[in-house]
Amino acid sequence: MTNQPIPDLTAFDEAALDKAFAQLEQEARQAASGLNDEAAVEAFRLEWLGRKQGRLNEVSGRWLKAAPVEAKKALGVRFNSLKAVVEALLDAALGSGPSDASLKAEALDITLPGTQRLVGAEHPITRTLNEIVSVFAALGYSVGVGPEVETDFYNFESMNFPPGHPARDTQDTLVVANQERRSQRDRLLLRTHTSPVQMRTMEQQPPPVRIVIPGKVHRNDAADATHSPIFHQVEGLCVDTNITFSDLKGTLDHAMKALFGSAVKTRFFPSFFPFTEPSADVQISCIYCGGKGCRKCKQSGWIELLGCGMVDPAVFAFAAEKQPAYDPKEISGFAFGMGVERIAMMKYGISEIGSFYSGDMRFLGQFV
Ligand code: PHE
Repeated sequence: MTNQPIPDLTAFDEAALDKAFAQLEQEARQAASGLNDEAAVEAFRLEWLGRKQGRLNEVSGRWLKAAPVEAKKALGVRFNSLKAVVEALLDAALGSGPSDASLKAEALDITLPGTQRLVGAEHPITRTLNEIVSVFAALGYSVGVGPEVETDFYNFESMNFPPGHPARDTQDTLVVANQERRSQRDRLLLRTHTSPVQMRTMEQQPPPVRIVIPGKVHRNDAADATHSPIFHQVEGLCVDTNITFSDLKGTLDHAMKALFGSAVKTRFFPSFFPFTEPSADVQISCIYCGGKGCRKCKQSGWIELLGCGMVDPAVFAFAAEKQPAYDPKEISGFAFGMGVERIAMMKYGISEIGSFYSGDMRFLGQFV
């Protein structure tokens, strides 16, 4: 059968294009349906797909050229699908399956390598935190947790920071907004230390207590190379009969040797925390120079690492409101708190605290 000559297109709106292409497709299908020998197939191919005189070539030459710019895309889309139809008709007539072009469009190369997923690794903060916890677990300590959004009572008052006490100012507290209608003790804040979990633990259980409390804390601190407004601490609390300052010293000396190596020495300096009396800052001999004096330890040979002290009787008095066995005449205890980031930075020689939080795989990949 002979095809109609390709007409000129006068309208280029979607409906006109649909109609014109549908007409051509119908002609192609009709032509393809009567192909019963090789010569006829070849004639069909030349008629539709021939490079110079083929109908599709003519369509692209005349219609596409005449089309206004805004119609070119719609026309091109229809042209491509008509071409795919004609090619499929030819393939079917040749009995050779789909054309290279249509195969390519659907191809799934099963020889391509799969998506490689990196093996995960513990974050250096988590790793350090777990390491600290396991040093104390080996001494018989259990592990506790508490809320990050804490009340004024647990974070401050029960830790012997009375309302209005100047020591509260040293904690740079981030408070939750719109708490005015609550009493001071119920007002919410982001805990500034893990110490409130000391009180939560004692309220839950009578002595003896040996517990470590790892967790996230928040302070309204400007970030710099060694400070972050969000960081981690591990708290420790030991309460029993006859717990003395020597128990505290022995425990922390052992823990520092377990964390930094048996050559490390510790020394205790008087300090102040409202919830311990006496209080101390613990220094370890400089792990970089072995105590000779270097830039890292400011030539002193010592590095300050954590706070500690004997639990203040005023703290036991708060605990005794719920658990009368916390009678400071009968029991005693010590507590300590250390910064996880600081310990991790020392252990791994990291100089920027921000490296922990940036999520940069070049940094994290070193801990696999
Ligand atoms: N809570 C103290 C701080 O964040 C650390 C500390 C814990 C000190 C326990 C003594 C005892 O600075």
